[in-house]
Amino acid sequence: MNQSEPTLEEAAASALAELSSISTIEALESLRVSWLGKQGRITDALKTLGKIAPEQRKAEGERINGVKQRMMDGIAAQRSVIEAAQLQQRLASERVDVSLPGRGEGIGTQHPLTRTLERIVDIFSQLGYVAATGPEIEDDWHNFEALNFPPDHPARAMHDTFYFPDGRLLRTHTSPVQIRAMLGRTPPLRVVAAGRVYRSDSDQTHSPMFHQVEGFVVAEDVSFADLKGTLAEFVKAFFEQEVEMRFRPSFFPFTEPSAEVDIRWGDRWLEVLGCGMVHPNVLRNCDIDPERYTGFAFGMGVERLAMLRYQVSDLRSFFDNDWRFLGQFR
Ligand code: DAH
Repeated sequence: MNQSEPTLEEAAASALAELSSISTIEALESLRVSWLGKQGRITDALKTLGKIAPEQRKAEGERINGVKQRMMDGIAAQRSVIEAAQLQQRLASERVDVSLPGRGEGIGTQHPLTRTLERIVDIFSQLGYVAATGPEIEDDWHNFEALNFPPDHPARAMHDTFYFPDGRLLRTHTSPVQIRAMLGRTPPLRVVAAGRVYRSDSDQTHSPMFHQVEGFVVAEDVSFADLKGTLAEFVKAFFEQEVEMRFRPSFFPFTEPSAEVDIRWGDRWLEVLGCGMVHPNVLRNCDIDPERYTGFAFGMGVERLAMLRYQVSDLRSFFDNDWRFLGQFR
């Protein structure tokens, strides 16, 4: 045997010494194949047994098998080391910290418009008003005619009405609920009605769907002074502070006289509602005797009031449904 070539024992010893630096199962496997595989060193060595003298065979066989056993033991031991390390790594990376606080479900909030609407209705309920509702799909009679808009009256044009092919329409205001509430009831009446209304109008300050709150009182001896006092109470309760207001003469077919109410907001006057004394024709259309009863009515835009109360500058934020906006109204 050549002097410079290491013996099987020497080669095995240095392979075993290197074992601990092998860190992957793949590398370990290729080492195993090079020693114990079909063309591995041990297999090659065993093949030489046939060529040596029979009396030496046993000792030589034991020698080679001894090396084989040490290699098998060493590789198996390193395999356990690698597998244990890999398991540790997996446990660390897949670790679940059960003590971490949960991500939590976002808790929904009431939409600011719903809040404002309910707040307005609440204030009037406390003043003795009873809540009423009406359909969003209305007929011409309730939305216009009974409210003293004769056919072809120019005030109809201001309403930008959405019509259905059969002549019905999406109500353009909550005033038709006045008609529905007065019909079949006898005064005294104190009614508040809130809901959606529709107009074919859309820009930064107009949405084709918006909300109104309507209110009215019909009884004996109801005066414009009662109307003023009621609205002053309302504005104070709604804004939770003294707010300067002014009544400006205006026109609505269903009230006479009519007024618009402005409130002082910084250095500006902002219109917040329309009102007036219920027109005798409206009472008559609802079978109420205008000689005996009088009434006042008012209607306000919920979006406008919500914008003022919550200092929202863009009407469209109410309809975008961005939770970052909506979540601010807890
Ligand atoms: N319906 C009117 C509108 O939509 C608002 C209004 C004005 C309602 C005067 C009233 C009222 O009850 O008396 O523009």
